[in-house]
Amino acid sequence: METVKDHYDKFLGEVYSWILGDFETAYRKNVDLFARLKLAPEQGNCAVDLGCGPGCQSVPLAELGYDVLAIDFCQALIDELAGRIDGLSVKPVCDDVLNFPDHLSRQADLIVCMGDTLVHLPDRKTVQILIRKICDAIRPGGRFIYAIRDYVDYVPQGADRFIPIRSNENQIFTCFLDYRDDVVHVHDVLHQKQGDEWRMKISDYLKLRLDTAGLDEQLTANGLFILDRSVVDGMITVTAQKP
Ligand SMILES: C[S@@+](CC[C@H](N)C(=O)[O-])C[C@H]1O[C@@H](n2cnc3c(N)ncnc32)[C@H](O)[C@@H]1O
Repeated sequence: METVKDHYDKFLGEVYSWILGDFETAYRKNVDLFARLKLAPEQGNCAVDLGCGPGCQSVPLAELGYDVLAIDFCQALIDELAGRIDGLSVKPVCDDVLNFPDHLSRQADLIVCMGDTLVHLPDRKTVQILIRKICDAIRPGGRFIYAIRDYVDYVPQGADRFIPIRSNENQIFTCFLDYRDDVVHVHDVLHQKQGDEWRMKISDYLKLRLDTAGLDEQLTANGLFILDRSVVDGMITVTAQKP
């Protein structure tokens, strides 16, 4: 089985934006979400995007007026983001999200960790450590937004474990999910057409089955309160604020 970093470096990074349904679609959803949450930065406000990927949160946050620190350990995705930030205040950094405080020179007005990034962490202890660092790094009045899929309440069975993600005439991306007690063993399957033949590549990794009640408890234990919660297309988004 691959580590999450190897999975993104060797397999997923190059097709990630395509499986999102193209960058523009994902970007637009975040523009709408941030408008609904009424994010209104003042001059010089700083946002941190943990697990930024190709930037579908970083770009709309910078367009709103934040100075964005965008962190991801997949160089291909950081390079893709760097190619779309012309004129925007985004600093892309290739590093582990756990190291984000090393790249911050002041407290953050906003920290986001969205698109299921939290469940990619290696274990629950690491999630706790990251949440503590996030809560310490936010200024009073600042917010933290996380978004994860629900891997707890709904457990697919049989054929429902095979998820068609995206296809065109040259490639097909399918995901197979094998639920275990604490983790989901994810298998990403990419069929690509080469001449008259289809070639199949598979890469697998683990996602944590985190529940939002547990995450919210950790946030409140670290001094934040829950401000907003929404569920769209199976993605649970929670906003917390430091008093
Ligand atoms: C599912 S993608 C989400 C990307 C983006 N936020 C979005 O909504 O499309 C998860 C991202 O987190 C990154 N990632 C996962 N674990 C990480 C870690 N420990 N440190 C840095 N990046 C990490 C991956 O490289 C990937 O880009």
